[in-house]
Amino acid sequence: MSSFVAPVLDEDDEELEQTLRPRRLDEFVGQERVKEQLQIALTAAKARGEALDHVLLAGPPGLGKTSLAYILREELGVGIRTIAGPAVEKKDIAAILTSLEPRDVLFVDEIHRMSRTAEEILYPALEDFRIDIVMGEGAAARTLTLDLPPFTMVGATTRTGLLTTPLRDRFGLTFRLDYYNAGELGSIVHRSARILGVEIASDAAEEIACRSRGTPRIANRILRRVRDVAQVRHEGSITNEIAREALHLLEIDEQGLDREARELLRSIAVKFDGGPVGLSTLAASLGEEQETIEDVYEPYLLQLGFIQRTPRGRTITKLGRAHIGAAPAVEAKLF
Ligand SMILES: Nc1ncnc2c1ncn2[C@@H]1O[C@H](COP(=O)(O)OP(=O)(O)OP(=O)(O)O)[C@@H](O)[C@H]1O
Ligand SMILES: [Mg+2]
Repeated sequence: MSSFVAPVLDEDDEELEQTLRPRRLDEFVGQERVKEQLQIALTAAKARGEALDHVLLAGPPGLGKTSLAYILREELGVGIRTIAGPAVEKKDIAAILTSLEPRDVLFVDEIHRMSRTAEEILYPALEDFRIDIVMGEGAAARTLTLDLPPFTMVGATTRTGLLTTPLRDRFGLTFRLDYYNAGELGSIVHRSARILGVEIASDAAEEIACRSRGTPRIANRILRRVRDVAQVRHEGSITNEIAREALHLLEIDEQGLDREARELLRSIAVKFDGGPVGLSTLAASLGEEQETIEDVYEPYLLQLGFIQRTPRGRTITKLGRAHIGAAPAVEAKLF
């Protein structure tokens, strides 16, 4: 049940993301505390001519982790190499590490999904800028130590909880990105509309902002769909009415929930009688990956106070029930 406007990436949207991605720290909207700390660290590292400390960026999908990694490279004026946590093998890491230039950024996306063997090669690399390579086998095996140029690793993760302690400890700077408020999302929508060359009324931008689940990527995706509706059914520029029409078509409600998120709530409320229901059972009943539920849907539903995580599983709250119009638990049991 992958959604039209879910904050997960598909290939189709990659080009758009490139175009809309902020390039410099001052174009990056919101996350003021993170920006302030990064600015200080950047300035200090540049003044000393040193590599920036390793940076860990954590938070739900679509909040700007990849954007920040590329901004750091831009602000440092260095090169960047990107590796994907799940795909990378030990030998790839060794090859990439030895090809880095001094002060380069090594961006490791989904770092929590890196294999343990791949991770272990990083420990000395991060701490002492060296790697140990084992040559040969059995009795003839010997370890070769290679020195690396000082570099900055930027790790991105949707789940800090899944990172091992030795890895987490090697980051000098750790930031958690929070959901954006409506004002910040409104600025992002205005900025994106400008880049896309479409006119948008302020109340229309606000409407989109309020329904984007605190997530810039979703705001940009909704904007794109709204732009389509404006172009095909109307004169092209986006009014509040057109925005609402498009949101209605997309089945995105006032809280920004889409059909899938409402289905999840309804499933807990009705199929599982309000819960608690275990994640695996819930995932199976929805035909969805556990990880998608945990990374994509739950954080925002938790933030809205619509569901709760208990040791025995997920439960729906009164607010959650009210949102989908389900009867409260006690009344439901009267029937
Ligand atoms: N602070 C921001 N200001 C302006 N635009 C932003 C900001 N954060 C994110 N965006 C927009 O949202 C899009 C998604 O952001 P990004 O790819 O950096 O998210 P992410 O955290 O890496 O997501 P994922 O966990 O799925 O990899 C970007 O292309 C950019 O257009
Ligand atoms: Mg990313």
